[in-house]
This record gives sequence, structure tokens and C-alpha cells, in this order.
Amino acid sequence: MNLAIFVSGSGSNARTIIDRFQAHPEYGITVVLLVSNKATAGALMIAAERDVPSLVVKRDAFYQSEELLADLKFFDVDFIALAGFLWLIPPYLIKAFPNRMLNIHPALLPAYGGKGMYGPNVHRAVKANGETESGITIHYVNEAYDEGDYVFQAAVRLDAEDTPEQIAERVLRLEHGNYWRVLRRLAASSRE
Ligand code: GRF
Repeated sequence: MNLAIFVSGSGSNARTIIDRFQAHPEYGITVVLLVSNKATAGALMIAAERDVPSLVVKRDAFYQSEELLADLKFFDVDFIALAGFLWLIPPYLIKAFPNRMLNIHPALLPAYGGKGMYGPNVHRAVKANGETESGITIHYVNEAYDEGDYVFQAAVRLDAEDTPEQIAERVLRLEHGNYWRVLRRLAASSRE
């Protein structure tokens, strides 16, 4: 499986995925490209340090042209993992990767999903509602935010005194431990 990771931010998920698959070539997954919508994303440095090619997409090109498809083809990408990528995926890209694009969401969907529910907003809302657990959802991507079929969910217990930042940390640890595993499982089942 030739994987592209799409990011907007610090890229800690991208880092764990790249490191895991570079350390284990026997898993049969190569991260061939990192795509960022932000020229300042920390993830770009992470990719550069690991010799993973990267590119930055501009909003106009992303939504008003399909030129990204040519780049994905050039790198022979056959699966996409969104890891903190904040733009809605346009239909042409979804059509080009049917059931071959995953997203990770830092909550137990369908709770705490949808427009505006990203990053700190999610964990603040979880805290405000006094939830005793939160978690992660890995799902296929379709035209609506956070509504594709779920592939994997895992929960983590929260302490009453956890701050939103501490909730974020607990959830992120769960993401790092599981995203690569889910990708590995899908790659293995696609080879069966
Ligand atoms: C993660 O919490 C992910 O679930 C969400 O955005 C965050 C990205 O973090 N979609 P990072 O850039 O991988 O550190």
C-alpha cells in the first residue's frame, strides 16, 4: 500500500505512522507523500527529516482544479490517511479514492462531530458536558464531515478533574497507538 498522509498541523499522528511503517517494511505500507494545506505545518519538517516527499496545496487549486490527482498519481498513491487535515475533501478526490480514504476524529462519533468540532473545541465540549469517557473514531471519508462508515473506535476513561488539555493528551495517545494498526489491518485485508 502506498500511503499519502494529509495534515494541517503539528503532525504527531503523521510522525507515528511514518516511523512505524519505516521501521517495519514487512507490513507492506510505504508513506510515499505528505500533503499539507499549510506551508507552516510542523508536519512538513517531520516528513523532510524522514525523507518523505511533501507538498503544500493552495485552497484554489484544491477546490477549483483537480491537479492534486496528478500529484497523487505521480507518487502512485493508493490510499489516503487524513491526520488532522482541516479542509472538507472535495467530491473529485472522494470519487478517486472510494473507500480508500480514512480520517481520525478525536472523539466517539457521532458525539462531538460535525462542522466546527475539531481540535480543542472537541475536548472543551467533552469537558463542559462532564463526560466520563472520550475516545477516537477512525472512519472512511465521504462528502460530509465525520459521517463516513466507522472502521474503529476506542474509548478512554476520563477523570473528573481532567482539563481539556489533559483530555486531548489522553485521546492523542490513543490515536498514536491505533491509527497505524488500523491502516495495517486494512492493507493486509486488501491483499487477501
Ligand atoms: C488529532 O487529534 C486528530 O484526531 C485530529 O487532529 C489532531 C491532529 O493532531 N483530526 P496531529 O497533527 O496529528 O498532532
